Amino acid sequence: MNESSLLLTIAVLGGTGKEGKGLVYRWAKAGYHIHIGSRDANKAQSTANEIMSMLDGDGAVEGLSNLEAAQQADIVVLTVPYAAHRFTLESVKDALKGKVLIDVTVPLVPPKVATVQMPAAGSAAQEAKEILGADAQVCAAFQNISHEHLLDDSEVECDVLVTGTSKEARAETLKLVEAAGLIGWDAGPLENSVVVEGLTSVLIGINKKYGSTHAGIKITGVEK
Ligand SMILES: NC(=O)c1ccc[n+]([C@@H]2O[C@H](COP(=O)([O-])OP(=O)(O)OC[C@H]3O[C@@H](n4cnc5c(N)ncnc54)[C@H](OP(=O)(O)O)[C@@H]3O)[C@@H](O)[C@H]2O)c1
Repeated sequence: MNESSLLLTIAVLGGTGKEGKGLVYRWAKAGYHIHIGSRDANKAQSTANEIMSMLDGDGAVEGLSNLEAAQQADIVVLTVPYAAHRFTLESVKDALKGKVLIDVTVPLVPPKVATVQMPAAGSAAQEAKEILGADAQVCAAFQNISHEHLLDDSEVECDVLVTGTSKEARAETLKLVEAAGLIGWDAGPLENSVVVEGLTSVLIGINKKYGSTHAGIKITGVEK
């Protein structure tokens, strides 16, 4: 990774939760400056303290409100349950102008989380683009990565398919996939996010059926 990438500040909105916290840990360990966003800045700061102690103080992680985190970041990652997706995006919409949003949301509709149920926009990431407007740069990534192994240094046996509104935004996202110690693939335009988000329900179903917590997918037949 080049030095200029590490100057980027990443906001992780909902970074107090399971998936977000794991990504924060991995990016902070890689040297990025991280803003954890929350509805409650104190909760965000206590998660930031937790991650900093896991890193023995060797990192740069701060806790802020979702809006402040988004305002002060170069790139913004969204890790909230689908029920909070629209509300959270609307609350930070202005702060996202000119920035890439990486949407990790899977549009799960409990209780049938092992059944693919896409929103009218096509996928959660396409809905994010509708909410943010025509000029928004949105990528979808990490939907198939279970949080189970993100908070330690285990190898994650699952690749990351990155879809997005432009080649440049996908390339920026792929750098963060690598920085998290994962293998990423450019999986094309944001419209393809329906397949990737949908795969999560398939993996949840496989976990249930075969007694696992972290079923994953791997791209085969291509040299990296
Ligand atoms: N968990 C996984 O293994 C996994 C894997 C792949 C993808 N995902 C996707 O990643 C997203 C986050 O998953 P997660 O398991 O990390 O979720 P989570 O732990 O349940 O929630 C993440 C954070 O979202 C915020 N939040 C929760 N309910 C909210 C509400 N009603 N309104 C506003 N904010 C709310 C909370 O932050 P504050 O209280 O601090 O605001 C919470 O800490 C989901 O869309 C999920 O499908 C998860």
